[in-house]
Amino acid sequence: LDEKIWLTISFGIIMGFMLITGYQAFALEMGPPSNMETIDPQKVDQTAPFDNPGVKEIGDNEYEVVMTLQAFGFTPNNIEIPAGAKVTFILTSKDVVHGFEVAGTNINAMVMPGHIQKITQTFDKAGNYLVICNEYCGAGHQVMSTTITVK
Ligand code: CUA
Repeated sequence: LDEKIWLTISFGIIMGFMLITGYQAFALEMGPPSNMETIDPQKVDQTAPFDNPGVKEIGDNEYEVVMTLQAFGFTPNNIEIPAGAKVTFILTSKDVVHGFEVAGTNINAMVMPGHIQKITQTFDKAGNYLVICNEYCGAGHQVMSTTITVK
């Protein structure tokens, strides 16, 4: 009889964990945050601001970098920004899920087709920052990188 009680208890614990995992996966929405702007991934080139990618000065020492990601590169490539500038990256993917990780900073984001990712960062230290894709995106994933030159 004792054994049956313990079996019932352990079965109950396992069911409990499964319920918690299921709840986290579905009820809490594991998808992108709902406050993220959406975009038609087929029409990125025709949709503002991505119809004009690049580095733009938007204020006093404030810049906007509009960038698209696609297998296996970043457009524009090898950008340059002044040291001390506050930079807002506006990113989207034209195909699959890519990553946007800037070595030496806290930037580490997923860039999904259909969604616009925005990240703001101030680059106080001059130097060359390596940008890599850290989401597996296909055969050329390991060569998907670019640089941000801060000077
Ligand atoms: Cu893009 Cu990996």
